[in-house]
Amino acid sequence: MSSTSDPASPAFTPQWLAMREKADADARATALLDPLRVHLSARGAGAGGRPIRVADLGCGSGSQGRWLAPRLSGAQSWTLYDLDPCLLDLAGARMPRTSADGSTVNARMCRQDLGELTIGDLDGIDVVTGSALLDLLDRHKVESLARAVVGADCAALFTLSVTGRVELFPTDPADPVITTAFNDHQRRRGLLGPDAVPVTVEVFQTLGWRVLTFPSPWRLCPEHSALTREWLRGWVEAATEQDPASVPPDYPERRLNQCETGELGAHVEHTDLLALPAS
Ligand SMILES: C[S@@+](CC[C@H](N)C(=O)[O-])C[C@H]1O[C@@H](n2cnc3c(N)ncnc32)[C@H](O)[C@@H]1O
Repeated sequence: MSSTSDPASPAFTPQWLAMREKADADARATALLDPLRVHLSARGAGAGGRPIRVADLGCGSGSQGRWLAPRLSGAQSWTLYDLDPCLLDLAGARMPRTSADGSTVNARMCRQDLGELTIGDLDGIDVVTGSALLDLLDRHKVESLARAVVGADCAALFTLSVTGRVELFPTDPADPVITTAFNDHQRRRGLLGPDAVPVTVEVFQTLGWRVLTFPSPWRLCPEHSALTREWLRGWVEAATEQDPASVPPDYPERRLNQCETGELGAHVEHTDLLALPAS
């Protein structure tokens, strides 16, 4: 379970990451790919040039690599970072072997806290990426990460950061109060939660970088009922932990029943962000 949807639990299980992978892939903002390709080509990386070097931070079971590697042409060399050795093994084993034009993709795994990443770790990297990650960090970690990215003069693509905006269909009078309690829970212990994107934009712009953002919402219909159910459970649990009075006693069962009968839809907003050297 992701702490984005079940912040009560720090664990990110392979089952939860697998359950969300298709909705994530459908949500990711393809509009940021062309500016990224221009950046890579200007550095001589990609088709007709040298291999693209990518660092995937908080790679989990590797869904970002499975999505991005086949969308970029040319040979690629990925370094996958995570704290969880089991997820790292999964990510390495399931990394695509070829890129968009059939060139070789290779990956190495690195068990390291991304808060300790230095400019030296990113030396030679063309793009740092992280998916469903920024909202789990605090401002200090984002600042040190941005300094390392800027020092290494590479791009940064951070996808699927939660914005805190959620709409359920049909609506319920309790939804806004639960949303507020959930968002407050996401901000516990100084974590950025729904403030992740505006803070990261500000940090990169202060360092003189250009930042592009694009919406990447989950649009959960009845066909996504398994994912909607798990997401809803985590959302309500976190809100309850934060502010028990925010969740009416009959709300969880009523909403889960609507989910079972295919009557519940949800729009969960995320934002994708690409930071590029100003030049
Ligand atoms: C919500 S999961 C996202 C996984 C994957 N990027 C995806 O989109 O499916 C967050 C991942 O970040 C990792 N993570 C969280 N904090 C970290 C840190 N400080 N250093 C390294 N990895 C971290 C977790 O272990 C987890 O695998």
